[in-house]
Amino acid sequence: MNILVTGGTGYIGSHTCVELIKAGHDVVVFDNLSNSSEDVLDKIEMISGKKPKFYKADMLHPDELEPVFLENKIDAVIHFAGLKAVGESVAKPWYYYNNNIVGTLNLISVMEKHGVKNIVFSSTATVYGIPAFVPITEECPLGTTFSPYAESKKMLERILSDYQKANPDWHVVLLRYFNPIGAHESGLIGEKPNGIPNNLMPYIMQVAIGKLPQLRVFGDDYETPDGTGVRDYIHVVDLARAHVSVMTKFSDEASTYIYNIGTGIGYSVLDIVHAFEKANNITIPYQVVERRPGDIASYYSDPGKAERELGWKAEYDLERMCKDSYRFAKNSLS
Ligand code: WQD
Repeated sequence: MNILVTGGTGYIGSHTCVELIKAGHDVVVFDNLSNSSEDVLDKIEMISGKKPKFYKADMLHPDELEPVFLENKIDAVIHFAGLKAVGESVAKPWYYYNNNIVGTLNLISVMEKHGVKNIVFSSTATVYGIPAFVPITEECPLGTTFSPYAESKKMLERILSDYQKANPDWHVVLLRYFNPIGAHESGLIGEKPNGIPNNLMPYIMQVAIGKLPQLRVFGDDYETPDGTGVRDYIHVVDLARAHVSVMTKFSDEASTYIYNIGTGIGYSVLDIVHAFEKANNITIPYQVVERRPGDIASYYSDPGKAERELGWKAEYDLERMCKDSYRFAKNSLS
């Protein structure tokens, strides 16, 4: 298929481009490079043997989207482009809602105009809020979100499924990611946050290469086995492969399909620290501090539906996630 990947030079987008190309798809990338750089395209080529066709453009400008669809016969869109920093979204709600919501509405319009009716949307497990139960299945009701970032994802799920209901020849696939970590085994592509990282693994990576002195563990008095927060960490390459599996869905009945993309295993913050130390034979100094506002104790997925319906299952274990994260940190972050 000929697949347009919005946000294709970003962390999850770039890994997905690699896996799509490896599976024989043609890939067109659209990105405004606000949180990534163009050299990622060369890295994708080094890994996969093919450089995706690239458009530097912004979804807030429909005239910049238009040529992508005029010049390429797109079969499906995988939509990653969006702002994703939770804390920043609290400080800049207008910026987040405008970018994520208006950008996606513009994308839907141009897709409709050009008869492209297949979309995969990059959503998040945070749409479940404080989950009604764990492991979380797709039947778990959506919860109250704690940031404009998470709310924008929840709103976009609703917008896309409402749109599909009104336009029943569309295929909409909503993928709810748990916590992606790791990097491609080549060490060429991975997560490169701007400034001091907010998320656990990017922070550990900076401590590991000596850029930050120590990790702060946000609370050890949660109701979890060791008191620290539990999450479902998934290797980004496994996550990328889930998108390749979704491509088969476009020949099924047109509908809205929802899948959790996780491993089904919950690890605590200290599990991650110790696994990283063991896998890479280094020490990660840490200090337990106050809980981080908005954090919840524990959540992890039931990924069974994706396995049953897409034939997809995460393959990489935590040791592999830690090794690949450290390799990328040493190669690209120092
Ligand atoms: C994981 C655990 C922290 C940093 C968020 C978003 C989600 C997705 C990923 C996407 C928690 C603890 C963290 C640190 C720590 N966003 N922690 N010290 O909060 O589960 O999910 O990021 O683009 O939508 O909500 O991920 O990695 O921030 O935290 O102790 O320096 O690590 O308290 O228990 P989270 P995270």
